[in-house]
Amino acid sequence: MNTVVLGLQWGDEGKGKAIDYLAGGFDVVTRFQGGHNAGHTVYYRGQKVVLHVLPSGIFYPDCLAVIASGVVVQPLQLVDEIRNARALGLTLQNLALSENAPLILPFHQQLDVIFEDSRYQRIGTTRRGIGPAYEDVVGRRALFVGDLLHASAFRGKIARLAEYYNRLFAAYGHPAEDLEYAVQRYLEAGEFLRPHVTDTTRLLQESWQEKKKILFEGAQGSLLDINLGTYPFVTSSNTTIAGVFSGTGLSPKAVDRVVGISKAYATRVGEGPFPSELKDDFGALLRARGNEFGATTGRPRRVGWLDLVALKHAVQINGVDDIFLTKLDVLDDLAEIRVATAYEVDGERRAAFPCHAEALDRVTPVYQALPGWQCSLGAIERAQDLPRAVRSYIDFIETFVGARIRYLGVGGERRQTIEITD
Ligand code: IMP
Repeated sequence: MNTVVLGLQWGDEGKGKAIDYLAGGFDVVTRFQGGHNAGHTVYYRGQKVVLHVLPSGIFYPDCLAVIASGVVVQPLQLVDEIRNARALGLTLQNLALSENAPLILPFHQQLDVIFEDSRYQRIGTTRRGIGPAYEDVVGRRALFVGDLLHASAFRGKIARLAEYYNRLFAAYGHPAEDLEYAVQRYLEAGEFLRPHVTDTTRLLQESWQEKKKILFEGAQGSLLDINLGTYPFVTSSNTTIAGVFSGTGLSPKAVDRVVGISKAYATRVGEGPFPSELKDDFGALLRARGNEFGATTGRPRRVGWLDLVALKHAVQINGVDDIFLTKLDVLDDLAEIRVATAYEVDGERRAAFPCHAEALDRVTPVYQALPGWQCSLGAIERAQDLPRAVRSYIDFIETFVGARIRYLGVGGERRQTIEITD
């Protein structure tokens, strides 16, 4: 079954672990959006590995790992990531990189930092140039991975783009930087990547026709979607199901199942509304227990209760079939677990999730308290051994959001996953 795996919150749901758990049965694993703003933490042969752009398929020698055309690529970073993966003993002969993936260029990173440091647009981005790179795509100025393979044409294209950016930088009081060194390094990276560069849309189409099993690996989370997230505090791609099709060139008919990943609580990095946020000592305790520090930037994550209003929104917009609920063990000691079940705005109760940040800023969550299980879940392997309180907690969530919880994460290891089949 071709399966899409998506984050249902603001990213960092534990997709790395979930995808790693699911990836074993697939012939193809493809990333379709985002870039090296993502950080998927997995354990390979007992070692912690953080993947940023490489798909989880790289761990399986018979699996084709695809970076499709919806992903923005910083070639120097990708070369580093490939070298690090090779140092782990992985050959990466099974890696395909789209010739049509837009490039993240030095200007993009510079502009991301300029905007973040200005008082006009502080989003709390990863400062990796993701937003400006996607801006160039919709502005019809972008350069692509395939451009790196034609040195003299690349030099001409980037010089023309530099004229545009230098005018912009001058307006912000930043001097133009000498590009020659960067151009040289980009071209070297292009040569390094050349054996992997291909038409991934054709490759994926062929894989689908040959009935190979495809896993679509989402990055970030649904509430960070450029169109359906908490705008403007979002990333610049479609992190929801829509991104699968524009980002790979496959049709909706190629998807059989959608698995949504959610933590048993909520976290967010960067700015933006977070109605169920816990700003107190208890929040700090959850942060410490869940080790909630960014895989990409090391930033402490904001922490809060699971918000079922937001989760239902994410389940509905993505058509989620099964939920993978991660980090349930972080709640092990709690006598009472809260979940937000409605929002109050100006004294009125609302069931719907308002996307735009200004509306969301005005809501106060209404909580339902559920009994905790107060025992350690880490060693449980079978669903039938789960405490009754965990079962009731799961039932409550499933009924509220309208999707079933199929997997539970109860620890960092791949084996600390409980599959509920009944
Ligand atoms: P950008 O993607 O770097 O432009 O950042 C935009 C917003 O998305 C910021 O709030 C980031 O913290 C957030 N973000 C981007 N990538 C991730 C991720 O992989 N996990 C969690 N948050 C992310």
